[in-house]
Amino acid sequence: MLTAAIHTPANLESIVIEQRPEPSIKAGTVKVRWHALSLNFHDYAVASGMMPTEHGRIPMSDGAGEIIEVGEGVSEWQCGDRVMSLFFPDWHNGDPSQDNTSRIGGDSVDGCATEISITDPANLSRIPNNYSYTEAATLTCAALTAWRALVEVCNIKAGDSVLIEGSGGVSIFAVQLAKALGATVYATSSSEEKMERLKQLGADHVVNYRSDPLWGETIHHLSGGIDHVLDVGGGTTLEQSISAAKVNGNLVPIGILGGLEANINLTQWMLKQLRIRPIAVGSREMQNRMVDFLETADFKPIIDCCFELPQLAEAFHYQLSGQHLGKICINL
Ligand SMILES: NC(=O)c1ccc[n+]([C@@H]2O[C@H](COP(=O)([O-])OP(=O)(O)OC[C@H]3O[C@@H](n4cnc5c(N)ncnc54)[C@H](OP(=O)(O)O)[C@@H]3O)[C@@H](O)[C@H]2O)c1
Repeated sequence: MLTAAIHTPANLESIVIEQRPEPSIKAGTVKVRWHALSLNFHDYAVASGMMPTEHGRIPMSDGAGEIIEVGEGVSEWQCGDRVMSLFFPDWHNGDPSQDNTSRIGGDSVDGCATEISITDPANLSRIPNNYSYTEAATLTCAALTAWRALVEVCNIKAGDSVLIEGSGGVSIFAVQLAKALGATVYATSSSEEKMERLKQLGADHVVNYRSDPLWGETIHHLSGGIDHVLDVGGGTTLEQSISAAKVNGNLVPIGILGGLEANINLTQWMLKQLRIRPIAVGSREMQNRMVDFLETADFKPIIDCCFELPQLAEAFHYQLSGQHLGKICINL
């Protein structure tokens, strides 16, 4: 079977596409044939060596495929069931803990960049019945993060205002979801072309964060203060994210695209009295709730483009270029 593997010291040029023997099923496990994957910044961090991993690790947290064999004693899944991976294979329900979030697919355990895997049946969730494998492969990390931020943390309702930054995988899904839930969406981008696309996807107001360095203050002025702010830039965006928020609003730190260290105005930080809840993806039960919702929603994930598995390094280079809007996928 065709498999991608990270050889250490890791960098994008050390991703190897190789043939490996198909693994055999054991009692209590299932065999999955992966059909599609999607790229996340975290996958890039592992594949590029920014985050350490083991020699030979199979990358990619997000995969969608079908069950092709069921081990003795497994009753939850049947052959032909359409499934997707979990970002944290051990976090099934309840609160996050050190134990249930210490293993991550494609990082500390093998991921989905292979034609066939043997896995614990609890490490999968069903996919929306109206989704293709490629569409479903966009959900495990980026979409679940957007879902958790808006629905599970912020408890968003129609009429609320939301600020969503940039046009990457998490942010585009968050724009679509927030619109579907009746929110007024404020968005940012560094590109005039992408600003237009964001408006077409339902963003009500879009500000260029590159030409307007005080974009958070601008958005506060336009909105009167945002109810729910999703921060994806970290170091370069946190201060403006706080500026945009209303007093007693929600701020959900999600990403670090702008760096790991932030300078923030502590007076504003205290006087705004925000509810600040950093998150890391979500649990299997949150993923299942999202799947139930998506089966009734009238939007689908935005897929920028698709590559084949042997082009995985090329796909990461494209992600790094920042040209994409939405998700970059791999078809197997
Ligand atoms: N906490 C979690 O659970 C979780 C889950 C998934 C992802 N993340 C993190 O969230 C971030 C976004 O992930 P992603 O997969 O959506 O990434 P992505 O698809 O690579 O997003 C890239 C886009 O983000 C925007 N961007 C880049 N640098 C920015 C900056 N300094 N300020 C504002 N926007 C910036 C750009 O949009 P424009 O081109 O429109 O300017 C860029 O096209 C990453 O840091 C990732 O690690 C966290």
